[in-house]
Amino acid sequence: MSKKGYFITLEGCEGSGKSTQLKKLEEFLKDSGVDFIFTREPGGTPIAEQIRKIILDGNNTQMCDETEALLYASARVQHIKEKIIPSKKEGKIVICDRYIDSSFAYQAYARGLGMDFIKGVNVYAVENCMPDLTLFLDISPEDAFARKGGADKDDRLEQSGIEFHKKVYLGYKTLASENTSRIVCIDAKKSADEVFAQIVKVLKEREII
Ligand code: TYD
Repeated sequence: MSKKGYFITLEGCEGSGKSTQLKKLEEFLKDSGVDFIFTREPGGTPIAEQIRKIILDGNNTQMCDETEALLYASARVQHIKEKIIPSKKEGKIVICDRYIDSSFAYQAYARGLGMDFIKGVNVYAVENCMPDLTLFLDISPEDAFARKGGADKDDRLEQSGIEFHKKVYLGYKTLASENTSRIVCIDAKKSADEVFAQIVKVLKEREII
């Protein structure tokens, strides 16, 4: 089944447990003998990682929302052309930590730029490289921050308050309700093992593993 290549993205609010689940998934896939790569956004290639540094630099407090959205989109095009599409063509399962739904949730909904603007600047991704499957780790920002033990003060984005993250969460919920065949909600309030079991179940149902 993995022969045709498959593009899976993992999404969620800050502290939703994405890193933990990605580690578990990596170990699981190594044991299963599946041909896969892990990557992330913003980033995933040397040029896109350089753009990531600009976006996440805590000193760049004057960056306007539109600039931020364009930087995410430009890093994404580089990532798609240099890594995601070639890897899919080789028949790999590509697993990406955040992707276009982060731009929809954070930039379109939470920053208020709107879906039309974000779809417009991401037209290359929308037309050429939408995920086959998106796993949304569903946990509210209140619960996620409580579990994480607070925000990282040096990270420009995590300096945003809880109200911002509530908007991000609502954005994700809206996207999930509008894209029911692509976006699968995973109950991320459960224990790490229980969350991972839900992920494995979805991958098996879709015959990815
Ligand atoms: P990161 O430190 O990787 O956070 P996390 O561990 O929560 O994934 O930082 C990525 C940040 O970038 C995160 O706050 C979400 C944000 N982001 C956007 O706002 N739009 C996007 O399109 C992407 C890919 C990320």
